[in-house]
Amino acid sequence: MRAAASCVRWVNPTVWAACLTERLDYNPFLAEGGLWKPHLWSHKIMSELSVALVGCGVMGRDLAKACVTLDQARLTAVSDVDEALVGKLGAEVSAAAYTDYSKMLDAAKPDAVIVAVPQFLHAKVTCAAAERGMHVFSEKPMAVTLDDCDSMIAACDKAGVNLMIGQVCRYHGVHRKVRDLVASGELGRAICMMVHRLGGPWEGIWARPWRMKLAQTGGGLLEVNCHEIDFMRFVCGDVASVHACGGTYVQTDADYPDNVVVSLRFESGAIGCLHGSQSSAVGAYGGRVDCTEGGLSFPTIWGDGSGITVGRFGGGSEFIAANGLVGEEPVRRELREFVESVLERRRPAITGQDGRAAVEIATAAYRSIETGGRVDLPL
Ligand SMILES: NC(=O)c1ccc[n+]([C@@H]2O[C@H](COP(=O)([O-])OP(=O)(O)OC[C@H]3O[C@@H](n4cnc5c(N)ncnc54)[C@H](O)[C@@H]3O)[C@@H](O)[C@H]2O)c1
Repeated sequence: MRAAASCVRWVNPTVWAACLTERLDYNPFLAEGGLWKPHLWSHKIMSELSVALVGCGVMGRDLAKACVTLDQARLTAVSDVDEALVGKLGAEVSAAAYTDYSKMLDAAKPDAVIVAVPQFLHAKVTCAAAERGMHVFSEKPMAVTLDDCDSMIAACDKAGVNLMIGQVCRYHGVHRKVRDLVASGELGRAICMMVHRLGGPWEGIWARPWRMKLAQTGGGLLEVNCHEIDFMRFVCGDVASVHACGGTYVQTDADYPDNVVVSLRFESGAIGCLHGSQSSAVGAYGGRVDCTEGGLSFPTIWGDGSGITVGRFGGGSEFIAANGLVGEEPVRRELREFVESVLERRRPAITGQDGRAAVEIATAAYRSIETGGRVDLPL
């Protein structure tokens, strides 16, 4: 109560009044991490966010195209070291084009920055933006190392800006429904979650030189399977220990395993298994969750016939078709969440800690592959 009173005195009365009228459910004493962050209050009150993009490759283009459809965001500038690429995207989305992102940040002075460069550069760009007081949306995986994750979180915390990580699968229909069904408790407690995501080697637009290097991608477990790791953590909670094995069998031009099996023990006591592969000629993406009173099977997450079968012990089963779960386009939805979290001065749905947790689990799995032993978390 004493703390609240002193904060009330500290906060600029205009800001305070605006918060009370704009967001009655916003608790200024519970900013990110449950801690009071006075920095948040030094930001101007906004109804629209000016946004700049760093990285105009495959994902940067998707993010730019989604960003320009948002009512509360204005994409004002884009940057890429590839002059032709940035010029083309800048013209398409009517944004100023820069080949040097630092110059763009200083000239365009956006409120927020979307980071869509390869992950070994996420920390550098995020810290540069945060140091300038800009909010950050960073693509997944958050980074390649835990040190980079920590520097991103620290820089954004210090500046009092939001950091959201693009673990976009949380906004895909089947992933979200699986999580909601388990979280509802109607099937009891989750016991075991299995997910497999299998495909062939990198090719076409995905076969970038940086994708072949462990030091730049974090390997397949980060570049691809951070989605599945985040999904499993979203459903079953934090992970207590990891045991993994893997090898390089087909994608021999990459310096990391192309087929990995990861066993997980969750803090809840539930167990899990992730199979990630880039050496499978017959692709597949699906899984299941067994719970104490029933279970879910989703053998195909995307494409024809995809959906979830929900069953209960001693009861019947029902099929929920994936095409009935389609909502707002997921990349647009995640960006909208980011923009709204900034405008509403609240923590984004997917935080730096969430992104870091996926990096930690993947790092533990690679460590286990090297040592052959169980790796306990936190690292
Ligand atoms: N959410 C998803 O499902 C999803 C899908 C694909 C990629 N991604 C992620 O998005 C990021 C980018 O992947 P991508 O497929 O677009 O890669 P990409 O190689 O197609 O694009 C990366 C771009 O960054 C540019 N770049 C590199 N250094 C730069 C710098 N210093 N300043 C400005 N631009 C620079 C490159 O020129 C390139 O155009 C990665 O982190 C990747 O993991 C996420």
